[in-house]
Amino acid sequence: MSVSADIESRIDILELASRYVTLKKTGANYKWLSPFKQEKTPSFVVSPAKNIAYCFATHRGGGPIKFLMEVENLEYREALEILAKEAGVELKTGYRERERDAGGDIYDLHKAAKDYYCRTLRKPEHADKLAYLLDRGLSMETIDRFELGFADGGKPHWTDLQSRGFGEKMLLESGIFSAPWRDKFTGRITFPLCNFTGHPVGFTGRIIGSGEPKYLNSPASQIFDKSSILYGLHLAKSEITKADKVVIVEGQMDTVALHQAGYRYAVGISGSALTRDQIRLLRRLTKNLYLCLDTDRAGVMATFASIENMINEDVNLSVIRVEGAKDPDEFLKAGGDFESLVRSAPSHIAFFIRHAGERHNIESITGKKAVVDELLPMLKRLQSPIELDLYVREICRELDLGSESVYEALGRYRIKPTAVVEPENENRAFGLTECLIGYLAEYGYFHLFWENFAYTVADLPESETTILLRRLLDAGDSYTQREDLDLDRIKSLALAIQEENADSNTETTETRFLSLVRSLNKSIFERERSRLIATMRDASNADPTSTMQAYESLLKKGKKLGFL
Ligand code: GTP
Ligand code: MN
Repeated sequence: MSVSADIESRIDILELASRYVTLKKTGANYKWLSPFKQEKTPSFVVSPAKNIAYCFATHRGGGPIKFLMEVENLEYREALEILAKEAGVELKTGYRERERDAGGDIYDLHKAAKDYYCRTLRKPEHADKLAYLLDRGLSMETIDRFELGFADGGKPHWTDLQSRGFGEKMLLESGIFSAPWRDKFTGRITFPLCNFTGHPVGFTGRIIGSGEPKYLNSPASQIFDKSSILYGLHLAKSEITKADKVVIVEGQMDTVALHQAGYRYAVGISGSALTRDQIRLLRRLTKNLYLCLDTDRAGVMATFASIENMINEDVNLSVIRVEGAKDPDEFLKAGGDFESLVRSAPSHIAFFIRHAGERHNIESITGKKAVVDELLPMLKRLQSPIELDLYVREICRELDLGSESVYEALGRYRIKPTAVVEPENENRAFGLTECLIGYLAEYGYFHLFWENFAYTVADLPESETTILLRRLLDAGDSYTQREDLDLDRIKSLALAIQEENADSNTETTETRFLSLVRSLNKSIFERERSRLIATMRDASNADPTSTMQAYESLLKKGKKLGFL
């Protein structure tokens, strides 16, 4: 694949086009008045599945690069550079094309390997391998559609690829071979793993019958990153936009089984949680995500981890549980009605509450309280008050509570009764927010923060440093992997805090951190208080009664927090 295709596959055309026009969904695509001419009826169409934006009136537009060139009047090279930057693809001046052999580049090599595996599986001498798949209930059509194959050993495969012009260096770098002539997937059924555009970028191989490891994956490479690939997405994407939903399952066999049963909007993750990268990839196509992981403990843990990752990503997540089966594949084989599971899938909040309901008696007041307490860390991370409101309403529905009580819990979220030390303002070079960032990054006190922060991130004042704090809080422990963070800045703040605490024990460090959180609470409290006082003094205030009420509840909160 060319560099430009690589870049384009990482750009969300919908997001790009939305910078110029308001788009409206019509079926699988989006439509609006053309950015290229004045018009009354929309002729501009964007297809997220095809990754193109095109104006049928002027015949302008195309893929991300072409579209950007035309809408911004740029040269090819300029558009390429802008998008490369956004896609996070390094584009050095005088950019070297990806390494190429006579046979092509690393993408071409993967395609040739996939073709080799496919041919092998279909040879008469490997009829028993094909029989394994057919016995598992796959149809030949499905096997062809997913391009399943068989790895018959290193020598013939290696020789085949060499004869097509791929050199030893590239063959070894592909991760397919562990040494010359040694195919890592030998004796396994191969599933090509493709990127959004449908190019194979890696493989997973399943052992035939039982044995360890059951599945073997290609190692990470310049073109393959497990955490941003979704199995089967290239086959599912148009169906996902059409159905306006996507089902996410664990692994290859479940994806394949769902497609075969007619649920072509299913994609697979491999054995861990849905990542933010994957969520962003899917969000281009639909906002309605249905998570359907295995029913074992690992699957439930992965479900919770996925819920963590979807917070603030502006998607609706529902959770499907295939009762009485280990995974969707088994469920379908047992004749289960998957469609009705999708229809009745609870939202992630309802799932969370039902799960908590196994530990608490949610009919009782204390049980309800306990569940709300467990939900608070998630609520506090929500950046949009509107989203918060939606969450609160759902919680109230599930628990049969009034929304005031949940909001009150949000405000009342306790300050730990540790000795309160006012922040020693030792003529610090850094402000409060910066210190908090330093502590969070250096000591990973995220949990401690959520436990003691009495507001939501939406209440933080708007400033450059609080934006950084919000993003850091949003990323949590995995912040070093986030590209939207100024890591240099964060690291230098962490260093400053580390220096300051060089001689302190854990308890002192924690106490210092808690007093910073307390100062943050206090500053938000004070800001709220002066705002309300100003409103009360304002003669044109239309609703003095509710201002008074707000002030009263603010005072109540201040007392609880120990500020009054
Ligand atoms: P089948 O047994 O073929 O039906 O697959 P499965 O998807 O039901 O397997 P299982 O539930 O055991 O595992 C779920 C997913 O975890 C798999 O689809 C793989 O993606 C992953 N997985 C399972 N076993 C291994 C392994 O040994 N190594 C690796 N890397 N991943 C595995
Ligand atoms: Mn299975």
